[in-house]
Amino acid sequence: MRNPRNFTKPLAIGAPAPLPEIPFKPSRMIHFLDFSNEKMVAKVPDIAPTVDILLGNLEDAVPVDKKLAARDGLVRVGREIELGATQLWTRVNSLESPSVLDDLTTIVREIGHRLDVVMVPKVEGPWDIHYVDRLLAQLEAKAGLERPILVHAILETALGVANVEEIATASPRMQGMSLGPADLAASRRMKTTRVGGGHPGYRVIDDPAQAAEPDAAGPRATAQQDPWHYTIARMVDACAAAGILPFYGPYGDIRDVEGCETQFRAAYLLGCVGAWSLHPVQIEIAKRVFSPDPDEVAFAKRVLEAIPDGRGVHMIDGKMQDDATWKQCQVIVSLAQLLAERDEQLKAAYGF
Ligand code: GLV
Ligand code: MG
Repeated sequence: MRNPRNFTKPLAIGAPAPLPEIPFKPSRMIHFLDFSNEKMVAKVPDIAPTVDILLGNLEDAVPVDKKLAARDGLVRVGREIELGATQLWTRVNSLESPSVLDDLTTIVREIGHRLDVVMVPKVEGPWDIHYVDRLLAQLEAKAGLERPILVHAILETALGVANVEEIATASPRMQGMSLGPADLAASRRMKTTRVGGGHPGYRVIDDPAQAAEPDAAGPRATAQQDPWHYTIARMVDACAAAGILPFYGPYGDIRDVEGCETQFRAAYLLGCVGAWSLHPVQIEIAKRVFSPDPDEVAFAKRVLEAIPDGRGVHMIDGKMQDDATWKQCQVIVSLAQLLAERDEQLKAAYGF
C-alpha cells in the first residue's frame, strides 16, 4: 500500500514536486535515433521540426561498443541543439544492465533540464518503477532541476503484461507505455521472428462447406488476425484508467509501409496516441494515422455545435447522437485542436 498523500510529495529532499496531471503534447511519433552516429547528430536540426518526439536510443539496436558514444551523442544533442517544441526523450538500458546507472546519472546531471521523458525497457512490475522513481528524485535534487523527468515503460515481458495496471499506477511520474512486440514475443515464446504486425499463421477461417463434396465449394474464406490486439487493448485500458498515455511500439519491416500503416491505425483506433518511427518513411505514416481524419473532425465539430450543452438525443445525418457520442466527438476535436496548434497544414484542413 502507498499513502496517496505521498503522491504529491517529492521522493528526495530538494527534488521537484510530482506533476498532478501528465501533460498531453503532440505525441504522434517517437522517432528513434542512435546518436553514436555523428551523421545522425548532424541531421537533428533538420529532423526535429518534422517529429513530435525525438528519442536518443541507448538500449537494444545500439551495439555494445557504441553504448558510450550513444550516451555522449545524446548529451551533445541536449546541450547544443535547439529542438523547438519537439520533446527530447531517451531509452536507457534495462535495469539489470551494467550501463543503466551511468545512463541515468549522466543524463540527469548533464541534460536533465532538457529531457522530458525517460523510457525504461523491460519493466516487469511496479518495483521497477519505484526504483527509477526514487533514483530520479535523488538525481534531480542533485542537479537542481525544477521540473520532474517523467517515466515511460515498455510493455515487453509476459510478467509486465500481467502487472500492467500496477505499472501504470506505480508513480505520478508515469507518463505512458509502449508495446514492445519483439521482446514480448520472445518472452511469451510466440513463434514469430517479426517485429510487430500480423503473421500468416495467425488467422481465422470459414467453416468447411456442408456439401457432399466440400472442395467443390471453392476455397474457404480466411483472414489474418492481429496477434497484438489483446495486449494493446489491455495497455490502453491500464493507461486510460491511470491518466497516462498509451503508444504502439516499433514496426520492424520498414519496406512494408502498408502493413505498418494498418498496425498503427489499429492502435490509433483502440486509443493509442502515437507509435515509434524507426525510419523517416514511418514518420509520415504516423503523422497521417495519428492525426484525426479531417472529415471525421468536421462531423465531430457539427455534433458539438448541434448539441451545445452535450445533453439529450439528436439525429445528425441519420445517426443517433447523445451525451456519450458528444464525448466521443470531444475526443476527436480536442486532439485535432492540439495538433492544429503545431501544424499549419492540419489547422487549415480542420478549419480552425
Ligand atoms: C521493442 O523494444 C521491442 O522489443 O519490440
Ligand atoms: Mg525491446
